[in-house]
Amino acid sequence: MSTTTANTAGLAGVVAGDTEICSVEQGGLLYRGYEIADLAQNANFEQVSYLLLVGHKPNDAELKAFTEELAAERHLPELVDNYILSMKEPLAAGTAAPMDVLRSAVSILGNLDPEAQSIDPDAELRKSKRLLAKIPVIIGHCQNVIDGVDLVKPDPTESHAGSLLTMIRGGKKATPEEERIVDVSLILYAEHDYNASTFTSRVIAGTLSDLHGAVTGAIAALKGPLHGGANEAAMEMLKEVDEFVSAGKGSVEDWLRDAFVQKKKLMGFGHRVYKNGDHRAGILHELGRAYTEKNHADKLKHFEHGEAMMKIMAEEKTIFPNVDVPCGMTYYAMGIPVPQYTPIFVAARITGWAAHVMEQHANNRLIRPVSNYTGPAQRSWNG
Ligand code: CMC
Repeated sequence: MSTTTANTAGLAGVVAGDTEICSVEQGGLLYRGYEIADLAQNANFEQVSYLLLVGHKPNDAELKAFTEELAAERHLPELVDNYILSMKEPLAAGTAAPMDVLRSAVSILGNLDPEAQSIDPDAELRKSKRLLAKIPVIIGHCQNVIDGVDLVKPDPTESHAGSLLTMIRGGKKATPEEERIVDVSLILYAEHDYNASTFTSRVIAGTLSDLHGAVTGAIAALKGPLHGGANEAAMEMLKEVDEFVSAGKGSVEDWLRDAFVQKKKLMGFGHRVYKNGDHRAGILHELGRAYTEKNHADKLKHFEHGEAMMKIMAEEKTIFPNVDVPCGMTYYAMGIPVPQYTPIFVAARITGWAAHVMEQHANNRLIRPVSNYTGPAQRSWNG
């Protein structure tokens, strides 16, 4: 029998392996040595994707070729389009969420990819780029099906972020400001070392399974509200707070005090590593608030509610917002449907997952921990 797990429940604080891709510490978040605020300010998502997947900052020629490759791959096989179209009723009935459709569509892409079974590094890089380019199209087409409009063809002249937003909004072009904000959100979401979904992808890759399989598993892990699903859950919570306040039932503080009494977990608050605040949250909050103030003053109330909650949470619980609260409020102001928030997280995190799958395959050892058995002692079947 192993020793007790009391101190390592949820593997908190356990170092489960090495990585050159990302460092997550309270003191700073680095992608291959570059600090997140520096990247959000000075890079675009295509550059960050290249950095994560290939391993270095692209020069102009490398970036041009990479951007063109992505734009050329921005289409889906007919079978995947037909699958998404066939999901209209389950999406309307709620038995399938956009995250579920995205998960299955990625799995089907694996069935069709000419290099699906290969874990050769060059093949994995090519597959990663194909997935990076195609995931936003899946998200866009899924939203088009929900909205009952024709599938919006991706525009190869738009940026990755701009094209994603345009497709989701049924062809309504993203403004440069909106494109930049979505681009920054993709940068912030791109990578985060051994988080639950990335660890899932590494566990799958560690059996020498394939990239599409590892990404399919990672999408399932990201969906949960304790992880990526928190951006949707945080916005639903803020809408609930707004309904409470607007109906004259009390203040934000009243809602929060009741949540404390009920021991509710506040979605979009807290983090396993960042106990004193999430580096990414402030960056997106500032951008999202300025955009909302300027363009959608009617949606500013969600920021105000969120800020009131943040103040009390910080003062009384020393718990701070993670990136999912500002993400929720910002996407909401842009008119992005809430069930697409976590799929957009996938559109960013595909870069981190793919980089980790390639790193795992490059220096593989099966990931297989042991457990602390707490069941009955040995006993006889016949009594
Ligand atoms: N609301 C209320 N209390 C909280 C929260 C919260 N959001 N987060 C932590 N706490 C409390 C928790 O109840 C516990 O209190 P006590 O010691 O009295 O039982 C204490 O803080 C420690 O919490 P924990 O859940 O043991 O901490 P953890 O490191 O295991 O969990 C977490 C981290 C992110 C799962 C948790 O903070 C949480 O559930 N947050 C809400 C979901 C969320 O926003 N997830 C997104 C995470 S970041 C980005 C991403 O992955 O998408």
